[in-house]
Amino acid sequence: SFLEMEVEQINKGKYEHYMQKEIHEQPESLTTTMRGRLKRGGSTKAKTVLLGGLKDHIKSIRRSRRIVFIGCGTSYNAALAARPIIEELSGVPVTMEIASDLVDRQGPIYREDTAVFVSQSGETADTLLALEYALENGALCVGITNTVGSAIARNTHCGIHINAGCEIGVASTKAYTSQIVVMAMLALAIGDDAISSQARREAIIDGLFDLPSMLHLAFSFNRSLDYKDLFYCTVVHLGKSNMFLPCIFADKVREVLKLDQEMKELAKLLIAEQSLLVFGRGYNFATALEGALKVKEVSLMHSEGMLAGEMKHGPLALVDENLPIIVIATRDACFSKQQSVIQQLHARKGRLIVVCSKGDAAAVCPGGSSSCRVIEVPQVEDCLQPVVNIIPLQLLAYHLTVLRGYNVDQPRNLAKSVTTQ
Ligand code: G6P
Repeated sequence: SFLEMEVEQINKGKYEHYMQKEIHEQPESLTTTMRGRLKRGGSTKAKTVLLGGLKDHIKSIRRSRRIVFIGCGTSYNAALAARPIIEELSGVPVTMEIASDLVDRQGPIYREDTAVFVSQSGETADTLLALEYALENGALCVGITNTVGSAIARNTHCGIHINAGCEIGVASTKAYTSQIVVMAMLALAIGDDAISSQARREAIIDGLFDLPSMLHLAFSFNRSLDYKDLFYCTVVHLGKSNMFLPCIFADKVREVLKLDQEMKELAKLLIAEQSLLVFGRGYNFATALEGALKVKEVSLMHSEGMLAGEMKHGPLALVDENLPIIVIATRDACFSKQQSVIQQLHARKGRLIVVCSKGDAAAVCPGGSSSCRVIEVPQVEDCLQPVVNIIPLQLLAYHLTVLRGYNVDQPRNLAKSVTTQ
């Protein structure tokens, strides 16, 4: 029953910590985020996105002069991860605002703008103040929150619920990946009328279906499949095969979660470090920022996420044989640029840990396995890769914290929901 599901969600179950539980339940949280919103297969074979909360406003969003994403912390990072695909599919310029900074500057917000407020709790004071400010300036305000009935959900003109389920660990994990998926669906919805990008949109919808396993959801809630699940699975898979074959479900998030032990081993190596850098670019600039944020907020190790394109403009001075550096170098349009970043770090004897696509170890490790440690992740559609790539870093932050003996669910000085300025 629903009640049992809720109780199950609030208990830690077989896990020691909420953060651990929330990392491992991402196949389910992503499924609930997408449930009922993506359609694929059926007689028309049409692939579409339905976002009920936006349906009266989607045309205005499409016509807006600019889309401004506003948030704090992890929610800001999620918007940053989705920015490239929103720009690509909408053709509308997208700018990013940290909520407090927008308010500090009283930055320009216009009637022709769509302001998108991203917040797990829906109650963050800085984000709420920015919302008040954007409403005064006449922007169309869209809320993306994980909390039904929250202040941001109530005070925006329209919005999308994240539906990731209740998140208890102070460090946001499953809400982050679900926020990215929600914003990828937003990009699909805004771009829905453009013929030129239809193939791309369909590839992204297929990619979304490949992230979690719908079948797994049914089992994870400790009940057997009912006919609705079977119907859903069948519809989902008609696109690929005419038979109902549950075993062919791609399940990329579950696959990447298998890196748990490997990330624990890596955490053991890094346990006494002072500092950790994370380099990313393109879709995965956000992965660098969010990976570093996870590490610093829970394991209390200094960590910085950096844009790899800026490496020569300062960060390179830090590189020596001691400082560990994580480079995100999964396959996308920036891959060869990341290969050359790795070469330059290698030439300066950098201690490299490279996150790459499966099978790419030799392509990313110039000096072979003795010169760098490689973390291979499953490849997905480029704009969805941040969903997969953040997971090993979440696991690393979790294990580092536990090994260092800190409180992983309630880090020193931090609160889950910052409702004061
Ligand atoms: C606090 C939390 C972070 C969160 C940020 C934004 O700093 O500790 O985990 O990312 O607030 O919260 P929100 O609820 O608006 O997403």
